[in-house]
Amino acid sequence: MTNRIILARLYQVLQPYRTKLLIAMVAMVIVAGFNAAQAYMIKPLLDEIFYNKDGRLLNILPLILLAVFFIKGIFYFLYSYLLEWVGQDVIKDMRNRLYGHFNYLSLDFFQKNSTGELISRVISDVGLLQGSVSHALIHLLRDFFTVISLLGVIFYMDWRLALMSLIFLPMAAVPIIFYGKKFRRISTSYQQCMGEATSILQETIQGARIVKAFCMEKHEMKRFAATMQKLFDTLMSETFYRCLSHPMVEFLGGIGMALIIWFGGVQVLKGDSTPGTFMSFLAALIMLYEPVKGVSKINSTIQSGMASATRIFNLLDIKTDIEEKQDAAVLPLFHNCIEFKDVIFSYNQEEPVLRGINLKVRQGEVLAVVGPSGGGKTTLANLLPRFHDVVGGAVLIDGHDIRDVTLNSLRSQMALVTQQTILFNDTVRNNIAYGSLDCSEEDIRRAASAAFSIEFIEELPDGFETIIGESGARLSGGQRQRISIARAILKDAPILVLDEATSALDTESERKVQKALENLMKNRTTIVIAHRLSTIKNADRIIVMQAGRLVEEGTHDRLLQEHGVYEGLYTMQYAK
Ligand SMILES: Nc1ncnc2c1ncn2[C@@H]1O[C@H](COP(=O)(O)OP(=O)(O)OP(=O)(O)O)[C@@H](O)[C@H]1O
Ligand SMILES: [Mg+2]
Repeated sequence: MTNRIILARLYQVLQPYRTKLLIAMVAMVIVAGFNAAQAYMIKPLLDEIFYNKDGRLLNILPLILLAVFFIKGIFYFLYSYLLEWVGQDVIKDMRNRLYGHFNYLSLDFFQKNSTGELISRVISDVGLLQGSVSHALIHLLRDFFTVISLLGVIFYMDWRLALMSLIFLPMAAVPIIFYGKKFRRISTSYQQCMGEATSILQETIQGARIVKAFCMEKHEMKRFAATMQKLFDTLMSETFYRCLSHPMVEFLGGIGMALIIWFGGVQVLKGDSTPGTFMSFLAALIMLYEPVKGVSKINSTIQSGMASATRIFNLLDIKTDIEEKQDAAVLPLFHNCIEFKDVIFSYNQEEPVLRGINLKVRQGEVLAVVGPSGGGKTTLANLLPRFHDVVGGAVLIDGHDIRDVTLNSLRSQMALVTQQTILFNDTVRNNIAYGSLDCSEEDIRRAASAAFSIEFIEELPDGFETIIGESGARLSGGQRQRISIARAILKDAPILVLDEATSALDTESERKVQKALENLMKNRTTIVIAHRLSTIKNADRIIVMQAGRLVEEGTHDRLLQEHGVYEGLYTMQYAK
């Protein structure tokens, strides 16, 4: 992205704040004017009061000074508060926009980007952008106006001296030219480090059990420390240039100042100028160098803000690959048949994971999908709610291609119990009611009891109000599964997709989960990726998937008679 494009897009972002920004700008102009007035006031102080001994003016001048400070203070407050407000509001919107965008993107996006990176985009990149929007904008604009009005003062005082001092002003640009690109590279590397650090933190805090079990604490500490070191180096390199540029500009400015003092002093001595004019000029010049020196400092903020803006806009530009059609229809309530028609799918455009699947599931049927690990069972199930789109062929529900209907109407007809149970750090109630927020207390209890969870839930310290910890960490594996089954029961969708976890449950909890599943499958069309013997036996039909193909199909007894893949799987896994 070029600077022009970024600025144009930032301008768009700031568009709604035009009025506020305009008011702030006017306030800045006023403050800048008062700054210049302060420098100018030195002249009457020296010339009229001390030189011409005007006592009356001595009584008035301090009062004027107080008034100047007071009014300046009011406008200072106005513009800094307004600009900060705008900056914070932009940030709030930007964070919401990014998060909204994440939610709109397909699963593919989340599989390709690390959690830490995305978190760091929303939290720290947006923060950096804010720094550059409000702080840099404040300084840049205010300093610009201040410089203009102070220039007015020095030219008014002595245009020849003013011209001379102007030769040295452009010196301030030197570090900008030298370090501009560097600051941007540094900011990118800073964000990379932050992303890495967030990733490590998130993974190892969540996976603390495994870290400890494998005695990897030292290793993880080293990994984290290495990232922190990289972060430190990056920040120090930024600090190096930032700290260096200040004295550099000051020294260059100092040369100019020295010359002016000498030249101006000579003129005062010769009687061509008054000490008041000279001191006033000098004060304005010193005040003038302040903002000019500041420019190089702001530059680093602006550069890193621009780099952040690039990353944020790049993220916002990513399109979802699961797009709803403009004229997408609402899928009517499922009543007849799900059909996979010559379905081909691959994750990476190369090696297909599904190689031409033809399959029909009638309404009310329980279809078990079995097969060796990596055969494509989960992938097949993920096509149904359109987590991914087929590469070839089509998935039809009651004859509607699922790509032609709205995502809401499609997904609301399916309940999903996945291989990993996904629970949120919230109450048992809210976890069960996830996706059915407007259901009654009665419904939740009924779902929990159908999922054989009511007993253990009531034994929890706060019953349904118990917070279950991150990913349900305070529950047992079987309990977690039953909560997610209760969630699916509550959703009461006509189509059920079950990816049974293979986690080793003891016979008691396996029996409970099994019963919960039976309750769930009642009156529904179920596609179950089956690992439990009982599920498979109760299925109306079993299909065997191997290496992306449907290799066998039939009832349990028939498949056993065929002496094929199924028999092998069955004797190996289930016949114990
Ligand atoms: N997000 C992904 N990106 C790339 N390849 C993937 C992705 N998910 C799965 N695969 C690959 O697709 C193939 C099928 O995976 P899938 O998860 O569908 O297998 P499965 O039959 O469900 O296995 P299991 O019984 O172990 O759950 C595997 O070879 C896997 O490596
Ligand atoms: Mg799987």
